[in-house]
Amino acid sequence: MSKISLIINGVRRELEGDATQPLLWFLRDNLRLTGTKYGCGVGQCGACTVHIDGRAARACSVTMANVAGRRVTTIEGLESNGNLHPVQEAWIAADVPQCGYCQAGQIMTAVDLLKRIPQLREADLAQVTNLCRCGTHVRIKAAIMDAAKRMSGTPIAGGKS
Ligand code: FES
Ligand code: FES
Repeated sequence: MSKISLIINGVRRELEGDATQPLLWFLRDNLRLTGTKYGCGVGQCGACTVHIDGRAARACSVTMANVAGRRVTTIEGLESNGNLHPVQEAWIAADVPQCGYCQAGQIMTAVDLLKRIPQLREADLAQVTNLCRCGTHVRIKAAIMDAAKRMSGTPIAGGKS
């Protein structure tokens, strides 16, 4: 048994238990932060994507020992003072989700991408490797490019295409 302390969505949390437990299960089962989803469990699909110290990471493949003392943000912690993140707004504008299962992970990946590459080009979208079994990838790409415009202050083309 080990005691692990970390910050999740700005709140200090502690786990007294198995340090090899994946972060994903701590989020979902211990904290009931169920926006982060379980898909493949082996780091491939991206449904479990969260941010660790501001960078996208797959919570199914990270143990609690790995995140001791670090800062984790989940989809539930992405808004700020009641305001949605521009990526979330772009997602709504493009009506991206179908079943929705992969979408929290997609958004967390997109936020990380835009943080790393503020002047995003279409070619950079190849870095998004999250899977969507509903095939919403075309709308995901459009929403990320829209979010890039929103975040750079460039006027936004209105409406869905
Ligand atoms: Fe973590 Fe698929 S559930 S990458
Ligand atoms: Fe259904 Fe992506 S919206 S899996």
